[in-house]
Amino acid sequence: MSFDTVIHGGTIVTADGQFRGDIGITDGRISAVAEVLDGGVERVDAGGRLVMPGGIEAHAHIAQESSSGVMTADDYLSGSVSAAFGGNSSFIPFAAQQRGQSVDDVLATYDARGARSVIDYSYHLIISDPTEAVLHDQLPRAFARGITSFKVFMTYDLMNLGDGGMLDILEVARHHGAITMVHAENNDMVKWMNRRLADKGLTAPKYHAISRPQLAEEEAINRAIQLAKLVDAPLFIVHVSTAGGAEIVRREKFNGAKLFAETCPQYLALTRDDLDRPGMEGAKYICSPPLRGHDTQEALWHHIAMGTFESVSSDHAPYRADATGKFLNGPDVAYPKIANGMPGIATRLPYLFSEGVVKGRITPEQFVALSSTNAAKTFGCTTKGRIAPGMDADIAIWNPDVARTVTHADQHDNMDYTPFDGMEITGVPEVVMNRGRTIVAHGVLKASEGQGRFFGRAPVDLRGKPGFTAPEFDTAQNFGSVLR
Ligand code: URP
Ligand code: ZN
Ligand code: ZN
Repeated sequence: MSFDTVIHGGTIVTADGQFRGDIGITDGRISAVAEVLDGGVERVDAGGRLVMPGGIEAHAHIAQESSSGVMTADDYLSGSVSAAFGGNSSFIPFAAQQRGQSVDDVLATYDARGARSVIDYSYHLIISDPTEAVLHDQLPRAFARGITSFKVFMTYDLMNLGDGGMLDILEVARHHGAITMVHAENNDMVKWMNRRLADKGLTAPKYHAISRPQLAEEEAINRAIQLAKLVDAPLFIVHVSTAGGAEIVRREKFNGAKLFAETCPQYLALTRDDLDRPGMEGAKYICSPPLRGHDTQEALWHHIAMGTFESVSSDHAPYRADATGKFLNGPDVAYPKIANGMPGIATRLPYLFSEGVVKGRITPEQFVALSSTNAAKTFGCTTKGRIAPGMDADIAIWNPDVARTVTHADQHDNMDYTPFDGMEITGVPEVVMNRGRTIVAHGVLKASEGQGRFFGRAPVDLRGKPGFTAPEFDTAQNFGSVLR
């Protein structure tokens, strides 16, 4: 067999185990995995380092307007470059529908934006306006081109669909084999807290954390799960930030729900104290759900180690700390007027490796599952997330021993800060490949604009998740099939 590239002399780590071996790559795909492989036009010496599937970043806001119209600082070029430096070979950002917009228009817009990416990409579709035409005409067209996940919001007035709107989406998604992702926070609890704080003149960034109580997330996670169970639809809870929310996920998964979830490094590395930095510095740490306390960090690590979460994702939502981003509404505004979100696409995996693997909280195999393999299964990336013959040669070679301090320059993004600045971390992705092409090598970008490809995805993999049959929602017995 002839190979374009052979990666040799490394320890191959998969979600199931690790072994010394070589990888042969032909036409962008893995064509052989064996103890020893000769040949190869190019031979890459892994030098005993860890050879793992390239990361799949499944939660990132790239070239996306927020619901209130603030554009992210990163587009598909800078966002994908930053992702690549962070050990990712592909990503699935959001394509966001604004109210009144057709899904076809949304996808045409994001196709033009995505064309700049240096790594492979797909989209989750954010639905804010589930009209009949969207539900029964436009979404099926999106599925047909492999967009098999969409996200809904239970918060933000311009995005919140209400329980009925969510049920409509969940039912259509289930019918097509798609998965619904949800940002779960109780909108009315948050608005009520906002009014109380405003009445007392409490507007500093630190009150953002007070305004979005842990109970608001726990209530909404529980409600989202019950809504999904009513129609037996798969559900993915994004950015879980509370111990109580994680515990609900764990319990419902144990009971067989078609349920998936993620948490994010910011909830592990930072706390609400960061919102109380001097002046308006705290604005850099405003994200939703908000940062919590040290006790939450410990609980979330426990859930990561015990398997409650499929993935640790970045929720990269890059708004610069200037008038283009965080302070679009003015430099000194009350916290509800400051853009929500923080960057982290380049730090997600180095942080997870350092605090997870190096500190002994998770195994290297769990790192692979949490960074790549599980996202591929959940979101139907059938050619990605595994090192096996036939898969795309999306590979990252990690040096587990290099220690460094996180700096903003390391992020290679379009931002003006990183919330992880100054953290000491160990482990670096030295070589990152996408479909057999080296995109980053030893801190140098090797990829060029537009070389990433859009990939369509398969339905969610529901093996091992029996789901739940609500007797009242038996379409045959009770009200006939309502699905078109
Ligand atoms: O604060 C955040 N996370 N901003 C991005 C949008 C979202 O809710 O995921
Ligand atoms: Zn969200
Ligand atoms: Zn997000």
